[in-house]
Amino acid sequence: MTIEHKRSSKSEIEDLIRARYSLIWVTSHEENRVEESLRKLCVEREMRLEVWSITEGFKVLANGQGTRDVKDPMKAIDHVIRSEGRALFVLRDFHPFLKEPAVVRRLRDAAHELRKTKKTLAVLSPVTKVPPELEKSISAVLDWELPNRSEIEAAARKVLPSLPQATQQVIESDPTFIERVVEGALGLTLVEAENVFAKSAVRTHTFDLETILEEKKQIIRKSGMLEYYEHREEFSDVGGMDVLKDWLVKRRSAFGSRAKDFGLPLPKGILLIGVPGTGKSLTAKAVGALWQMPLLRLDVGKIFAGLVGSSEENIRTVIKTAEAIAPAILWIDELEKGFSGTQSSGSTDGGTTSRVFGTFITWLQEKTTPVFVIATANNVQQLPPELLRKGRFDEIFFCDLPDREDRRQILDIHLRKKNRDPGQFDMDKLVDATVDYSGAELEQAVIAALYDAFDSGADLTTDGLLKTVRDIVPLAITMREMIEGMREWARTRARPAAARGSKPAKKEGWMAKYGAPTANLGDKGPETDDGDRKLEL
Ligand SMILES: Nc1ncnc2c1ncn2[C@@H]1O[C@H](COP(=O)(O)OP(=O)(O)OP(=O)(O)O)[C@@H](O)[C@H]1O
Ligand SMILES: [Mg+2]
Repeated sequence: MTIEHKRSSKSEIEDLIRARYSLIWVTSHEENRVEESLRKLCVEREMRLEVWSITEGFKVLANGQGTRDVKDPMKAIDHVIRSEGRALFVLRDFHPFLKEPAVVRRLRDAAHELRKTKKTLAVLSPVTKVPPELEKSISAVLDWELPNRSEIEAAARKVLPSLPQATQQVIESDPTFIERVVEGALGLTLVEAENVFAKSAVRTHTFDLETILEEKKQIIRKSGMLEYYEHREEFSDVGGMDVLKDWLVKRRSAFGSRAKDFGLPLPKGILLIGVPGTGKSLTAKAVGALWQMPLLRLDVGKIFAGLVGSSEENIRTVIKTAEAIAPAILWIDELEKGFSGTQSSGSTDGGTTSRVFGTFITWLQEKTTPVFVIATANNVQQLPPELLRKGRFDEIFFCDLPDREDRRQILDIHLRKKNRDPGQFDMDKLVDATVDYSGAELEQAVIAALYDAFDSGADLTTDGLLKTVRDIVPLAITMREMIEGMREWARTRARPAAARGSKPAKKEGWMAKYGAPTANLGDKGPETDDGDRKLEL
């Protein structure tokens, strides 16, 4: 497609009108909100605003009044061409009529005619479905942005008077209260935000952050591609990978204005590649907690699943949502699964995969909003080479199997998580017996040994652990060639996530840095299998 895609707001469309763009496509689900912005714009610029729909014909919404009973789409375009003066015309839901060759032709004529006038025609639709004949005539497609903080705040303030007097006072007396509430609703459309606030008011007689976030989570999940992920993993739950962890810790405060004033560029994102089970997904999840930012998990496969909109629409929706929630982390797990077919895309799917991929990498490179991307992959061969070029990600990290010291840390973490004191175990023996075991396999060994111990009525011991370790055949053995290939690939293209060899023996060191693991011995009673699940008894 040759059309210029922009994410847009009122000021963007104002520039286009001033630059005499005659035909624009505006994509948004929020008809009322877009029209309200356009109305304000037309009042400011002293332009007439006429909005058309198949059911009502034209209605003047700014600088004039009245209706024009032209419901027929062809006649509607004629009306635009014939009208006098400075005006903006909006055609609501016009895309179904663009199946008619005559309508398309007429619209092309209009685009041409309007160029000589002070009139602009905008098609407003929830989808971007530009017929190829129109591509050259439509000068820009604008993806209308989701509401910003001040719009969401206005929605919250509308609900405020319906709350009990005392609650209103509490809210007004704490300037951060509304801020947090607004933050909680970012990423929703205005109507969705209004509904969420209303629901919270009815249920809890206040703005309850938990209710708001819960609603938001569900709305985002309904979009089918993104999941709003709860922080469950702490950064201290990740063992090893000191280089990667240091990198992330250093950027903990890189999203604020102080960092910007200091001259730091906004971190863009990282790609984590490597051996299965080494903690790539775990790290992505833990960064949310470390940086105290919302984490959005993107299922790339679902972008192409075709259940919701078109794939191109879907990737733009994802970007729009992430930017509205920003500062945020966009976690793309198993990146290669979605983007493996970009090279053959032209012949297999009419180029859809490569267009979606193109939209994604352009955004990755040019984005100016604080959305940090963490992508993970383990089949590097399938990744499109463009993705690995400089400028796309800040850094590509290779996550290899843990070495001795890192295995010690990982075992330490998983023993503590099960409320066992690592000091009671012969850690040297254990790390010696687990050469080439991944983090996931070390965890698996601890859990299997726990089962065995529970079954035999004794507690977990070093010998018990050694026994389950022997029973597990690490992937490194069955997949030796693949892992070697990956190492070879990474040697020149990626940075190791963990320093090798020269590490100080630093159990205390890393704990001091990242904090002790979450489930500290003696913190609470013994954990049950249910974790923190609430059971209905
Ligand atoms: N470095 C580690 N520190 C602590 N636990 C780990 C580590 N690596 C793996 N684990 C444990 O193994 C589980 C699975 O790891 P994870 O899913 O993060 O691996 P991955 O690298 O994403 O694997 P894949 O490539 O198969 O997606 C984690 O939830 C964690 O419990
Ligand atoms: Mg993973």
